[in-house]
Amino acid sequence: MTVGDSMTADGAKALYDGFGRHINYLRLSLTDHCNLRCVYCMPLHVPAFVPQPDLLTEEEIELVAQAAVGVGFTKFRLTGGEPTLRPEVVSIVRRLAHIPGLGDLAMTTNGLLLPQLAKDLAAAGLRRVNIHLDTLHPERLPQIMRWGTLKRIWAGIEAAEAAGLVPIKLNAVVTRGFNDTDVVDLARLTLERDWHVRFIELMPLGNDQCGQLSRERFVSNVETCRRIMKALGPLTPLPNQNPSDESKNYRLPRARGVVGFISPVSEPYCGSCNRMRLTADGKFHLCLLNDDELDVKAAIRSGGGMAAVQAVLSRAVALKPTGHHLIQQVLVEGASTEQRHMFQIGG
Ligand code: 5AD
Ligand code: SF4
Repeated sequence: MTVGDSMTADGAKALYDGFGRHINYLRLSLTDHCNLRCVYCMPLHVPAFVPQPDLLTEEEIELVAQAAVGVGFTKFRLTGGEPTLRPEVVSIVRRLAHIPGLGDLAMTTNGLLLPQLAKDLAAAGLRRVNIHLDTLHPERLPQIMRWGTLKRIWAGIEAAEAAGLVPIKLNAVVTRGFNDTDVVDLARLTLERDWHVRFIELMPLGNDQCGQLSRERFVSNVETCRRIMKALGPLTPLPNQNPSDESKNYRLPRARGVVGFISPVSEPYCGSCNRMRLTADGKFHLCLLNDDELDVKAAIRSGGGMAAVQAVLSRAVALKPTGHHLIQQVLVEGASTEQRHMFQIGG
């Protein structure tokens, strides 16, 4: 397999990285601001957000997305910080949804603004949302998702479902001493509802309090899975799992929905990684857990058009690193990224 341009069996364009991985999924961070401050993700006081002039404009985001589809990307996800805080979010969705050849357009959100926005986002062409919810316990929730309340997040989930942004996927990051015992109630939601409830292992990013907390409070999904099965019965693996889906999916007895486990630390899925990330300030971030970046905004603002963006993107794909060593970072001291926090990359 050669690095760079290639064709798939049906003659479509495709990009392969240096390890033969087919890269076709772009996560676009729209902002590094967030209206929550989850303990493992964002410090209470952020020393500096990206200044407004350094954010990619909606036209620039559209250009990057068109360029990406042109070289074979088919799947986009809008992330943050919190993507719904970007005032132009509906218009950005509309622009991307109109790009011919786009296969999927989803968003990862904390849900707080969905009661106002879900209908407009769906009408603009958004297909699905993943909503971040760490616990159903109203008092514990603000200890983790510091500025959040269960009532507001729940209203966002209901608004998303009413707007047809389905299947609803809930993401819970499991954190020792905060919500490690709340996983049972979250998994129980799938008995009555056709939602996906996914448990994410805490990743240590950054060298500060968030990274430190993530190392100290790590819970393996093996433990989470055991806890759920002990309370709710066996988890049966779902057939036909998509190999590039980072979530391993199961069903509880007689459940309507799906329980998923995303285990970047204990079971890294780097070998089947298909993704590239665009930061809000216009850099291709080559791997979530690594600081390497290529500046696409500079290429655009120095007058480069579609071809220049595609050249940077092809280089970014070619340079994608093999993977990470998170397990060592949890067990031994050390941070995977020195430069960026999760809220600056978008998960
Ligand atoms: N480890 C794992 N997941 C995290 N998220 C944020 N910080 C971390 C972390 N340290 C997740 C949130 C959100 C997504 C953007 O990233 O659940 O859904
Ligand atoms: Fe905001 Fe999501 Fe980070 Fe929580 S995890 S602070 S909701 S970006």
